[in-house]
Amino acid sequence: MTYETLKIDKRAYQSIKNFSKVVYKNAVVNREEMYEFDEKLADSSKSEEIINLEYNNNFVGKAIYSTDFPTIKILTTLSEYSDKDIDYEYFYNSIKKANDYRTDILNYNDTYRMIYAEADSLPTIVLDKYNDIGSMHASSNFAFDNSKMIFEILEELTDITTLGVVKGNKTKNKHKTKSNVKSKKDNHQETADRLIHGNKDKLETTITEGNVKFKVSLKGHKTGFFLDQRNNRIDLENYVKENDKVLDICSYTGGFAVHAGIKGADVTSVDMSEKALEFAKENMELNGIKSDKYNCICGDAFSIMKEMINKGEKFDVVILDPPAFTDSKKDLKNALNAYNTMNVLGLKLAKRILVTCSCSHHVDREEFKKTVVSASYRAKKEIKQIGDYKTQAPDHVITMANKDLEYLKCLFFAIDN
Ligand SMILES: C[S@@+](CC[C@H](N)C(=O)[O-])C[C@H]1O[C@@H](n2cnc3c(N)ncnc32)[C@H](O)[C@@H]1O
Repeated sequence: MTYETLKIDKRAYQSIKNFSKVVYKNAVVNREEMYEFDEKLADSSKSEEIINLEYNNNFVGKAIYSTDFPTIKILTTLSEYSDKDIDYEYFYNSIKKANDYRTDILNYNDTYRMIYAEADSLPTIVLDKYNDIGSMHASSNFAFDNSKMIFEILEELTDITTLGVVKGNKTKNKHKTKSNVKSKKDNHQETADRLIHGNKDKLETTITEGNVKFKVSLKGHKTGFFLDQRNNRIDLENYVKENDKVLDICSYTGGFAVHAGIKGADVTSVDMSEKALEFAKENMELNGIKSDKYNCICGDAFSIMKEMINKGEKFDVVILDPPAFTDSKKDLKNALNAYNTMNVLGLKLAKRILVTCSCSHHVDREEFKKTVVSASYRAKKEIKQIGDYKTQAPDHVITMANKDLEYLKCLFFAIDN
């Protein structure tokens, strides 16, 4: 089998030797050939292909090349793959290694992020395990087309009996304004971009997170559940008191709100997805939280917070966990403005504690913290950081060579009154 070969410069070669799993396209030295390759892909109406990378005429690795990605994503540097396809053995070994890391080193049991793309040498594949249900996000054809094989390996290595697969670039959950907030109809049918392998009748399960249970469903508007916030949600319980008023902004299926609810707080969950809020209600009931202790409001978080401020409402604890406000560096300024505004609103509503998060890859830790501090000046509230700067749970692995795998930022602040 012959593969398109792109030659890389010394720096990129060195960074691969130092465990990096991505190569920027500007490190390709045979540029003309790369441009011709782009045209060939466009003509064949494909956007990607598996290629070989070389340095000094020696095989460096096999990788996914896509006209849609700014980087070339390394699959393997094993020399035996220089003239063979990525095969069952490759997937088996990579998936087993990823799973063993979660179970043997991190001590996860039944529910965890099992595959986190480059961090597990399985670029473009993100896979969460919720008991015996798997939920996979495939951001390449390579990942989507191999999902049946991946499912068979999961069946062999784990107790997974159903795998939901969604294809596409990561959900672009852009900042939604009042005018474009609509509840979308949920769809769990199989389509060209959505597959279910295995037991199609088993699409829901109940997972445990500390003292709390959550229902997770592949029928949801997003696939599954935000496992990345697990430790931060558990930590919230330390700061919530009985009969506190707690506001969970962008609550999704009630993640933070349920943890506050089991402490006896009166919780208000706000989200623009009706379906997510239906789940939030089910999760409240599942945890024995009575209907007079929770309230769900569907709509745009910014407008709802403004209305609350106008009515003079106050909450002991406010949690802000919005979607990524940008998926590119060029929108950074707008994203920071949106975080600033949301935090000003949150701080105006909060009496004792503010929990504030950002899941934007392009907003770095210090930038985010500065934005929140600047919001505190605008809201005229002095804030004190509680504990450390929190991030994603450790199954969302951050490798040292590809630090941009770290995306979640979460800060707890006490408000000085
Ligand atoms: C990162 S998730 C929140 C996860 C949640 N805190 C948890 O622990 O599971 C972001 C949520 O924000 C919601 N959302 C996006 N834009 C919104 C807006 N303008 N107003 C209200 N909710 C919004 C999405 O529907 C999604 O459920």
